[in-house]
Amino acid sequence: MSELFERMLARLADGLQVLPDKPEETPESALRALWHTAAGRPCSAVAATRRPLPPIEATPAAVTALERLVQRRLLGEPLAYLTGRQSFMGLEMLSAPGALIPRVESELLAGAAIELLQRMPGAPLAVDVCTGSGNVAYAMAWGVPRARVLAADLSKEALALAEENGRLLGMDDRVELRQGDLLQPFDEPALKGRIDLITCIPPYILSAKVAGMAPEIARHEPREAFDGGPLGVTILMRLVEEAPWVLRAGGWLGVEVGKGQGPALARRIARDGAFDEVHELCDAEGAVRALLARRA
Ligand SMILES: C[S@@+](CC[C@H](N)C(=O)[O-])C[C@H]1O[C@@H](n2cnc3c(N)ncnc32)[C@H](O)[C@@H]1O
Repeated sequence: MSELFERMLARLADGLQVLPDKPEETPESALRALWHTAAGRPCSAVAATRRPLPPIEATPAAVTALERLVQRRLLGEPLAYLTGRQSFMGLEMLSAPGALIPRVESELLAGAAIELLQRMPGAPLAVDVCTGSGNVAYAMAWGVPRARVLAADLSKEALALAEENGRLLGMDDRVELRQGDLLQPFDEPALKGRIDLITCIPPYILSAKVAGMAPEIARHEPREAFDGGPLGVTILMRLVEEAPWVLRAGGWLGVEVGKGQGPALARRIARDGAFDEVHELCDAEGAVRALLARRA
């Protein structure tokens, strides 16, 4: 490796604070992603570990760009906002302030959603609410090409990014984006009782804890992507109440939950006559991080 690479790596190894919810980032993967970005070919930390590094040492503008990017990363700007890229379920997607940076942990729900859709015959109808950059919606459309996928978010900025992602991924005709509050954009007779799967990665942090999150998150990512109300479960509870109106009998609701929220929410859903099966999905540490509930 070149002297430039070793020098930048030493700076990152010395000063970079990586967050547990972005486990794909290490000093080396961050440097590689920033290096590609400085070379004019931005990519995510995941993609950067697989791509050979272009030589930039003899291009002063690229070296200066890299040094500035490393400095901004050390000052706490999220890597995905610096590169403009984030990987999700193997898809290289756009990332920008205004939309949450998709987390690896959300691949648990996305993977389960794809499996459910694959088991359904014909052209299943999936709806992803709180879609943000559209990561779960595009992952479902990519994983199950015969599925029809609709997606919505309250935030215009997030939806603008989701739209760009559709173009980048060549799937702008595969995911139909709508703006509005939770399931309200799908309140139409043609969809009532017809939806096979609803997915949601909602805001689920207690309002009082949002400002105290790591500065890299609290200062840069949109608050509305995290704030789940006084108890953290406002959106989750609304979905449990509203989803049965649009799901078909035997259709599924799949939600991501915060650490510690899963078992109580699963009990609440199990008591609800609208659902007849609830499954808890756990991460590698055994924490419940997603629930699947079947419409009775
Ligand atoms: C945790 S982020 C998830 C984004 C994306 N699915 C992901 O995994 O990166 C939650 C998203 O919910 C959106 N949101 C918050 N309240 C909403 C509501 N009432 N209706 C629709 N979307 C909402 C936010 O704008 C944000 O994009």
